[in-house]
Amino acid sequence: MTQIDLSGKTALVTGAAGGLGAAIAAGLHANGATVALLDRDARANTATAAALGDRATPVHADLADLDQLRTAFAEATERLDGVDILVNNAAVAPMRTLWDIEPEEWDTVFAINVRAAFFLSRMAAEGMRARGCGRIINIASLAGQKARPTGAHYGASKAALTAMTRAFATELAADGVTANAVAPGMIDTPLVHSIGEEKEAELTAEIPVGRIAEPNEIADLVSFLAADTGAFINGATYDINGGVLMR
Ligand SMILES: NC(=O)c1ccc[n+]([C@@H]2O[C@H](COP(=O)([O-])OP(=O)(O)OC[C@H]3O[C@@H](n4cnc5c(N)ncnc54)[C@H](O)[C@@H]3O)[C@@H](O)[C@H]2O)c1
Repeated sequence: MTQIDLSGKTALVTGAAGGLGAAIAAGLHANGATVALLDRDARANTATAAALGDRATPVHADLADLDQLRTAFAEATERLDGVDILVNNAAVAPMRTLWDIEPEEWDTVFAINVRAAFFLSRMAAEGMRARGCGRIINIASLAGQKARPTGAHYGASKAALTAMTRAFATELAADGVTANAVAPGMIDTPLVHSIGEEKEAELTAEIPVGRIAEPNEIADLVSFLAADTGAFINGATYDINGGVLMR
């Protein structure tokens, strides 16, 4: 049976200072990978990387800024000696109604959630193709599949991310590079707690398994996809939502 073993592999995880990204970085690291954690929150990111210890390095960038993104990717590539696994996890999720979304916020959401993932994936894909193997894993969301009364731009950005995943999966597969998306429902992270206790309880009540996810439950799936266990999986979007959306 194939084991999840990432020793000798390198991974770059965005939005890794806290929340799900930190759990994904920790999961890949625990499975043997050397990990670069990218975040705009330099202090938290440095602390998260330090807590992992050896085989973990922080790089800092605001993903909305393509120049910062290029510099951070070059730094990560140099320190890791190439990126085998890229996890596009960072996102922003302002919860506003249709009427309250301004053009500037729409653009920011797409710049961070979609544009940064596109250009980072393309940068990483160059080296992956040259080595004949690689994994791109995009963190989408249930919000890209099922509408809520707020966050139209967030939902649209996550749906775009899954479409983009399939484009990368199609164009890169022949070179040994796979691309997949993971679409979680509610996870126990700071982002979820920002919606308020009452709203959180209301949404939790809709989940058939009766609770929200622990970050490591999503992180385990990411490690599975990143390792040899995920070798034949390409272009998929994994629903991991406790049964809120079944299809
Ligand atoms: N928490 C949930 O319930 C949930 C549900 C579905 C999908 N997701 C997805 O999971 C991923 C992680 O979510 P989370 O809950 O951990 O979020 P979070 O807000 O707790 O953490 C996001 C991290 O990304 C970083 N980040 C944000 N914008 C950045 C930028 N411009 N440049 C660099 N770093 C930036 C933040 O500093 C932070 O460390 C996101 O893609 C989110 O859409 C979360």
